[in-house]
Amino acid sequence: MTLSIPSPTGLPGLLALRQMWRERSVLGALRVFYRELGPIFRLTLPGFNAVMLVGPEAARFVLVSGRGDLRWRMEGDPVTALLRHGVLVEDGERHDTLRRSMNPALHKQMLQTYVESMWRSTDHVMAGWKAGTPVDMLVEMRRVALLILLDTLFKVDFSPDMDRLWQAILKTLNYISPGVWMFSKRLPRPGYTDALRQMDAYLYALIQRRRANLGEATDLLGMLISDPNMDDHLIRDQLLTMLIAGHDTSTALLSWTLYLLGQHPDVMAKAREEVQAVIGDQPPQFEQMHSLPLLDQIIDESLRLYPPIHLGSRLAAQDLSFNGYTIPTGTRVLYSIYVTQRMPEYWDAPDEFRPERFASGAPKPVPYTYLPFGGGPRNCIGAAYAQVEAKVILARILQQHRLTLLPRRVHAHMGATLEPRPGVWMGVD
Ligand code: HEM
Repeated sequence: MTLSIPSPTGLPGLLALRQMWRERSVLGALRVFYRELGPIFRLTLPGFNAVMLVGPEAARFVLVSGRGDLRWRMEGDPVTALLRHGVLVEDGERHDTLRRSMNPALHKQMLQTYVESMWRSTDHVMAGWKAGTPVDMLVEMRRVALLILLDTLFKVDFSPDMDRLWQAILKTLNYISPGVWMFSKRLPRPGYTDALRQMDAYLYALIQRRRANLGEATDLLGMLISDPNMDDHLIRDQLLTMLIAGHDTSTALLSWTLYLLGQHPDVMAKAREEVQAVIGDQPPQFEQMHSLPLLDQIIDESLRLYPPIHLGSRLAAQDLSFNGYTIPTGTRVLYSIYVTQRMPEYWDAPDEFRPERFASGAPKPVPYTYLPFGGGPRNCIGAAYAQVEAKVILARILQQHRLTLLPRRVHAHMGATLEPRPGVWMGVD
């Protein structure tokens, strides 16, 4: 006998609405549903049917044991429409071949060659900060992350094009964010067509310029162009995938981390002491990145509280069986990284910022309860890159500035990533 998957109606629905209102975010509702209904429940809205899974068993199921019966690609979904044949929205052999072709550019050995670009890009953005004039770290960190991504992986200076393409990037991100399109795919998406045209024009021009003058091909764009199996369209799909997946996540991680440090000035002061003791006033070096345990813990804890990718989304290609429930073929299956990383069964005081949970002597998290970079064979290809990048940027900022968080209410907004909205305003001295 199979059980019927619980739906949040009646009391759980009301409690969830209350929590959603308090937190100004749907995430609060998801935690209530988990508490009231358990690790599997339906999310049924007009035009949108999904099953949400929560917890380590569910994560293991989606990421490892059941992954052969799940698909990443969803025809008609905005992410697939935007990224076309990008590695993120392919399955099976097509996916594996693309991933293999991109791996070398993100391999740990390449990271040391990226560190200089990381601190130089941070310096470039910090040069625009003035003592006494608050800055929005959500914007500033996006600038840094874009400069780094394009410089390291595409070997191109994005600074002359940043302002011109800024709105197009935001519109593109908005296109793939949860929103009313979930209820009707026919609703107009104002501004998106123009934004996509601008992004495509930029990326295709980049590919053509580089084809004409390939030079050394050790960066991602060079590698893709040198691959005889790639045409310009397939290269464009990978570039856009990396541009989106590789900068918006780092933007969220860095802005949330600065927000948390602003809320905990004592931890920020200790992190600065660590940076001064290990790096001093000189530019950060790759080897030093292994000697910043407090910064590591701060980043790990920020990723736990505010995972930039807060859920994973798949399509059931077969009837699936999980915990006695049957999930029918064609169902959208979601797994919640955010709720899993705040389960009181596995995390003491789950809502508190406690970097020491990740100290070397502390007990390791239970497997599949900590998933900021996903897991299994399709975990994040840029995880090592993102961690080094975050440390270099934060170290560079702490070396040069004293930051104060301005008292403005921030909530977790479900965009393409989980963002601190309306922004993280800080005084910089
Ligand atoms: C803080 C930064 C980052 C976080 C938190 C993050 C998180 C994740 C997560 C959770 C997944 C798996 C999603 C799922 O299971 O549905 C993923 C996949 C992916 N990430 Fe990241 N990511 C980050 C940075 C990056 C960077 C810097 C890049 C590229 C330069 C990147 C490229 C990708 C790609 C291409 C995939 C799909 C991999 C595949 O399907 O084989 N990410 N990321």
